[in-house]
Amino acid sequence: GPLEEVSLPLYFGWFLLSSIQDKIKCTSMDFLKTLDTLEAFKKHLIDFSGKAEEVDLEQYFQPTGILHCTTKFCNYGKAEGAKEYAEKQAVKDSYGSLFDLSLSALFVTPRTFGARVSLTEEQLQLWPADAEKQVESVPAAASLPLGSRAHVTLGCAEGVEPVQTGIDLLEILTLQQEGQQGEQVEEMELGTLTYYGTGKWLLNLREPISAPACFSSFYG
Ligand code: A2P
Repeated sequence: GPLEEVSLPLYFGWFLLSSIQDKIKCTSMDFLKTLDTLEAFKKHLIDFSGKAEEVDLEQYFQPTGILHCTTKFCNYGKAEGAKEYAEKQAVKDSYGSLFDLSLSALFVTPRTFGARVSLTEEQLQLWPADAEKQVESVPAAASLPLGSRAHVTLGCAEGVEPVQTGIDLLEILTLQQEGQQGEQVEEMELGTLTYYGTGKWLLNLREPISAPACFSSFYG
C-alpha cells in the first residue's frame, strides 16, 4: 500500500548538530573569501566563469539546507539496495545515536563546495559497500578505500544537484591515487591548499574539525 511505499526515507545520514553547523558555515565562508583573493585562484578563474572575470564564491555556491553526511541515498525505496541497507543490524542499532565526525578537508570545484569526512572503523559499519563503485563517470573510484566518498555538501553552483559533491571528491581522490601531486599553492591558516587542475581545489585542514552528528534519516 502507499504507506509501505513511503516507509523508506529519501536518505540516511549523519546530521550535524546546530551549534557545529554555525561554526562550519563561518569557517567555510571565511575560506571562500580568502580563496577568492588568492592570485593562484585568480589565475585559474576561467574554470569557474568561462571568462577571466571575477567571481564572488560566496554568491556562486548556493547553500543546500541542513548540513549532513549522506550514508545511503534510498529515494524512498527506489534506489538499489535501499531496503537491505535499512534492515542492516548496524543501521538499526545506531539509529538516533550521536557520532563524532571528523572533517579533514575542504574542497571547491566549479560545480560544488564540500567538506571531506574521514570515517572511523565504527562509522564505516554504516557505510554502503558500493558507494564508491556506483559512479559511472569516475570508474577508477571503485579502487579507492571504503568511505572515500564521505562528505558534507556545503554549497552547489546554480543548477547543480548535491549528489555531484561526492563525485567531485572522488575525482580529486582518484587523481591523488594516480600519483598526481597537484600544485601546492598556498599555506593558509587553516591548512595546505592544493590545485588539481580544471578548477579542483583541496584544502587539507591542519586541525580536522570535529563535528557531533546524529545518525538518522530524512524524508523531505
Ligand atoms: P549529498 O550527500 O552530496 O549532499 P536531493 O535533494 O538531490 O534529493 O538529495 C538529497 C541528499 O541525498 C543530498 O544530500 C544528496 O547529495 C544525496 N544524494 C542525492 N542523490 C544521490 C545519489 N544518487 N547517491 C548518493 N547520494 C545522493
